[in-house]
Amino acid sequence: MTFTLAEARAADAADSLRPLRDRFHLPDGLVYLDGNSLGPLPRAAAARLDEVINAEWGEGLIRSWNAHDWIGAPQRVGAKIAPLIGAKPHEVLVADSTSVNLFKLLVAASRLSDRSVLLSESGNFHTDLYIASGVADLTGLTLDIAPRNRVESRIGADTNLLLLTHVHYKTAERFDMAAMTARARAAGATTVWDLSHSAGAVPLELNRAGAELAVGCGYKYLNGGPGAPAFLYVAEHLQERLLSPLRGWMGHAAPFAFVDDYAPAAGIDRFLAGTPPILGLAALEAGLDAFEGVTMERLWTKSRALFDVFHALVEQRCPELACISPRGEDQRGSHISFRHPHAYELCQALIADDVIGDFRAPDVIRFGLTPLYLGFEDIWQGVDRLAGILESGSWQEPRFAVRARVT
Ligand SMILES: Cc1ncc(COP(=O)(O)O)c(C=O)c1O
Repeated sequence: MTFTLAEARAADAADSLRPLRDRFHLPDGLVYLDGNSLGPLPRAAAARLDEVINAEWGEGLIRSWNAHDWIGAPQRVGAKIAPLIGAKPHEVLVADSTSVNLFKLLVAASRLSDRSVLLSESGNFHTDLYIASGVADLTGLTLDIAPRNRVESRIGADTNLLLLTHVHYKTAERFDMAAMTARARAAGATTVWDLSHSAGAVPLELNRAGAELAVGCGYKYLNGGPGAPAFLYVAEHLQERLLSPLRGWMGHAAPFAFVDDYAPAAGIDRFLAGTPPILGLAALEAGLDAFEGVTMERLWTKSRALFDVFHALVEQRCPELACISPRGEDQRGSHISFRHPHAYELCQALIADDVIGDFRAPDVIRFGLTPLYLGFEDIWQGVDRLAGILESGSWQEPRFAVRARVT
């Protein structure tokens, strides 16, 4: 397949999602292919934060907990995530970080049975494995970390919890959520899904897939800003059966009764711990509002087209890059990754050329394909500059080998 710059521009001109790009601030001349790591600034977020800071905080002060419903933000913002993941509004709550939410759900769910094993995938995102090891220490569960292709066969009579990341952060491989959940459930185990690379990226139907528990990031495809609060999902039928191990006052049935004894709030609210981060919630809410009027199916159709163009152009112009993301549309998420022995240097040289992707150790370069604001010309320009860097060998300049704290 050849795909020229003129064809890319024509595809953008014909794209009905193109106007959505105006909902974001994207620096001039920059090709931003890292929205799977940190989404760009939604234009509405700056205005909304200004209002929350100056009017609600500055003028309203503590009155704003009621007057501007700050207290209801975790549920209100959660309800805006619900349609993106195929959940009911009261099944999603915004709180804490993905790591902390994972801890809360794993510990809570481990108490649903007396089985002994917490099963997960080797090469899963490391925070998931670290949290799982902490949960195992605390609860006495045995951690079983199996290679991806063995996870399913390892589900057995002793499996208490199955922890899976739906779309793999490095390769973009996607699990069949309905099939894996059903397989675990048939064996008597509970599955916890990490949706960090799925929410806002691929169509999700948690209810339809029978998913019971999930967590996910707010700052990637949901565009909630650096360190945005995360979300958690608890299926309706489990909400009254689970107790959070972090029993903070905000998860109490009556936080302002100031009583000594803990009584969990009804429903998902019991998974709140401390005071909600209002500024972070306001930014995330603006990020979610950027999805207004567009379905995940439409976004996914465009994501697939962006993937096909990226894949074909790299195959043609950068044959030294080996694609490690599956081609099958049911088998992957919305990013594309390649192996190269000098992936780090390549990535730095690209950034110097105003194309932002990211590097994942030890040898992967990764590009987020985010149809809310990316077009075909972005893809074309990105690959064109990548090909130029490979042809010229400019990535070999010593400055591109210097490792910063965040890689
Ligand atoms: C799969 C996955 N889970 C969790 C996280 C991060 O979790 P936290 O919000 O606790 O930093 C990431 C971050 O990249 C991720 O890719």
